[in-house]
Amino acid sequence: MYFFIKNYGCQMNIYDSLRIADILTNAGHEAVLSVDEANLVILNTCSIRDKVDEKVFSDLGRLKTIKDGSSAIIAVAGCMAQLRSQDIIRRAPYVDIILGPQNIHQIAEIVADMIKNRALDALVSTSSNADDKFRQLSGKFHHRSVSEYLTIQEGCDNFCAYCIVPFTRGREFSRSVSDIVNESKNLISLGVKEITLLGQNVNSYNGEGPDGKSCNLSRLLFELANMDGLERLRYTTSHPRDVDLGIAKAHREIEILAPFLHIPVQSGSDNILKRMNRRYSRDEYFERIEMLREYRPDIAFSSDFIVGFPGENDDDFEQTLELAKKVNYAQAYSFKYSPRPGTIAAKMDNQISDDIKSERLQILQNLLNEQQSTFNQGFIGKHVNVLLVKDGKHEKQLVGRSEYSQAVSVCGNNISVGDMVKVRITAVASHSLVGAAEQ
Ligand code: 5AD
Ligand code: SF4
Repeated sequence: MYFFIKNYGCQMNIYDSLRIADILTNAGHEAVLSVDEANLVILNTCSIRDKVDEKVFSDLGRLKTIKDGSSAIIAVAGCMAQLRSQDIIRRAPYVDIILGPQNIHQIAEIVADMIKNRALDALVSTSSNADDKFRQLSGKFHHRSVSEYLTIQEGCDNFCAYCIVPFTRGREFSRSVSDIVNESKNLISLGVKEITLLGQNVNSYNGEGPDGKSCNLSRLLFELANMDGLERLRYTTSHPRDVDLGIAKAHREIEILAPFLHIPVQSGSDNILKRMNRRYSRDEYFERIEMLREYRPDIAFSSDFIVGFPGENDDDFEQTLELAKKVNYAQAYSFKYSPRPGTIAAKMDNQISDDIKSERLQILQNLLNEQQSTFNQGFIGKHVNVLLVKDGKHEKQLVGRSEYSQAVSVCGNNISVGDMVKVRITAVASHSLVGAAEQ
């Protein structure tokens, strides 16, 4: 069949979508570039905030027409499929396959059954765990770019009061070091130069090491540090509580480890952090930031923030602003709190009105945008190392990412996708840098 995958949600979903594409390609199906050319459409969904759920339902509404009188197959995979299979069947009864994030390895088999027996009812498969998934995800990789994700840890045991992830991706699971090393080699052989290790809670990675004992994230980073052909290594997302001295040392000692860390704080108020069940205080967060700066002075930080968590008052919000000012982020994401069914926070008193959430979000985003812009302006006249990932809009121009994850447009002769080039920054656009490759 001709398949098209639409991805929603986080980097882990992007990784899962690529693995789904590999499985389908290995089973003889062909990827196409738009939904109009496809007769097998897979929506790989997210459930982190309610807006994403609604977007999926509206996309499903539009997909109904491709089913009319055809043998097309529609599959809904991912976190929302895990959580809302019954709602999906009710609101979009023409959906054929529903697969949770730990069941994506079954896609080719289920599609084959559907083709053989078109009378099958919607098939819901949401019961596996990450261990099964990774054991069964095998086969050749196709179409990788120069920068790719690699899931090393999945699921979460932290149960932050607002978060749906423990209910969608389940308990924490870490892949073994040998599995990760093999996959890295595989990616490098396909031309990948930069790998971002992924985990919902990546710093709590504890997979089986080469000696049979449990291995933590910093040791894993050292294991990957000297792989032939690997030019840059990143990891995300870090829970501040689990960022330890080993990580700080890895940032000091591993040359290919980017001096950039996504370390979501969520709130700057101890009162709210407690209600969120984050299990660190703002002072502990500062301590982690300072430790990392001490070991790696050129490190930069990004974060996630939630505004309007139940009970957040003006003073709590003020403390969030103060924290952001003190840390001075290179980049950050901020969201209005969105109640998720089944989470503790959804049942808390003192839910905040949408007006107040919007107002606070605007104030915070203004501050974070200003910080990002000042951070970027500081690079004018300086050099960054850019991994070129794709062609730019103009001739002799390519686009890549700096060690700080900034998008950079690079001009130069004899430069190609996949090169790591030293670039002198000449200008700063709204969210990106512009520069010339040093020849
Ligand atoms: N409402 C708003 N934002 C949320 N996030 C996670 N759950 C929610 C929620 N219920 C944000 C957090 C997290 C990021 C991936 O999404 O900031 O770090
Ligand atoms: Fe969305 Fe979280 Fe699932 Fe990623 S893990 S797809 S962010 S709900």
